Amino acid sequence: MKKTVKVLFAATECNPFWATGGLGDVVGSLPQAVRNAGTDIRVILPLFEYGIDKNTLKKEGVINVPVSWRNQYCGIFSLERNGVVYYFVENEYYFKRQSIYGQYDDGERFAFFSRAIWEIVRFLDWKPDIVQCNDWQTALAPVYHKLMYPEFNSIKDVFTIHNIEYQGKFDKAILGDVFGIDERDYSLLEFDGCINLMKGAIECCDMLTTVSPTYAEQLKDDFYAMGLGNIIKKNEYKLKGILNGIDDELYDPRTDKAVFASFGADDTSGKAENKRELQKLLNLPVTDAPLIAVISRLAAHKGIDLIKFALGDILKEDIQLVVLGKGDRYYEEYFSYMHQTSPGKICTIVAFNKDLAQKVYAGSDILLMPSKSEPCGLSQMIACRYGCVPVVRATGGLKDSIKNYDVKGGNGFLFEKYSTEEFYNAVKTAVDIYHTPKWAEIRHNAMTTDFGWRKSAREYVKLYKSLI
Ligand code: GLC
Repeated sequence: MKKTVKVLFAATECNPFWATGGLGDVVGSLPQAVRNAGTDIRVILPLFEYGIDKNTLKKEGVINVPVSWRNQYCGIFSLERNGVVYYFVENEYYFKRQSIYGQYDDGERFAFFSRAIWEIVRFLDWKPDIVQCNDWQTALAPVYHKLMYPEFNSIKDVFTIHNIEYQGKFDKAILGDVFGIDERDYSLLEFDGCINLMKGAIECCDMLTTVSPTYAEQLKDDFYAMGLGNIIKKNEYKLKGILNGIDDELYDPRTDKAVFASFGADDTSGKAENKRELQKLLNLPVTDAPLIAVISRLAAHKGIDLIKFALGDILKEDIQLVVLGKGDRYYEEYFSYMHQTSPGKICTIVAFNKDLAQKVYAGSDILLMPSKSEPCGLSQMIACRYGCVPVVRATGGLKDSIKNYDVKGGNGFLFEKYSTEEFYNAVKTAVDIYHTPKWAEIRHNAMTTDFGWRKSAREYVKLYKSLI
């Protein structure tokens, strides 16, 4: 009989419980798809009680988890959702906080979680063949595995980079006192004179993955790797890029409850109603001018500067612009100011609002995503599903998911160089084509592109099997 691979998948965000970005979407949908492809995968998360009612969970037990010299309480809860088991790691001191990240003691909080993963593996009757960790918050887990849990020698570590911008850097002073790691092992974590958790995970894992093939290539370059290029190159032999998917049942304009009127690739008549309702909601005139959307974290690497620099020229066209997102104060204030000075043309909403985002995808014609770097990007895929055609820079996962309008199956507009001129030209092309019959064809291609998880889930399963 063929053995079913067992995977424990560790992360700090997971939809529908709580999320701050794309990671939450991936953790909320990838395990389900991998399970459907024939793997026994379970998810482990910190318990943030504002995202889930503890009373609805099953209590598995209580253990103690060492955090250096501290001995911390750790409750273990579980839940089964669509056939996938989720474990929740409870400790109110660490996780009963106003926000998931950005606390003064994030290092200690996630060191606790990373240690708890192995203590819980010890506690459970179910033993994984593979532990897959995601981003810096869980990056200590493969390091702890190597240094402190020889009893689990046969378990393999997969580490997945969703965004190398955030590496988990700390002063060396907390190495022993918080992380409980001996001075002689400092070199495993050391980079540029400080502790770098992601660097440690890259060195210690058995397989390193990232969220698109192009980003995997780009990570060898310091520009994209935020300084870790040489570390990535040294570990290139175990690196693989697998493109993210989206939950195409959740993101379906035929059934999505958030949109004003349902529609699909075969009958797009409801799309016009969504546009009208959105214009009314945003106090924009109800016209047929292309409605352009920016739905993004307002951060520099998302290419917000390009939008800012090209905006003067873009506004000369007969278009409308909606900006939905939050992030750097500087950008929030800039777009709010533009809203005030161009009412009826620009509408800015400074928020992270899932429901409104769905309405904006459904009601808009064009999505701008000129990222400087983009590991994968999910917004371009969601936009396509809702008939909102993306203009993207050919980088990372954007390059792997969007084809230029002038090739077969073209589902968007691509530009190469991070320059205002190239970006503006791509936007201008989209705006010009919008009023021609060609638009319906591009939009149809976008709406029917397969962005589901099936293919990538099979790649993960293959990767897991190659490890055991
Ligand atoms: C991060 C990346 C984004 C990716 C997401 C999920 O948020 O910035 O590109 O899509 O993780 O992997």
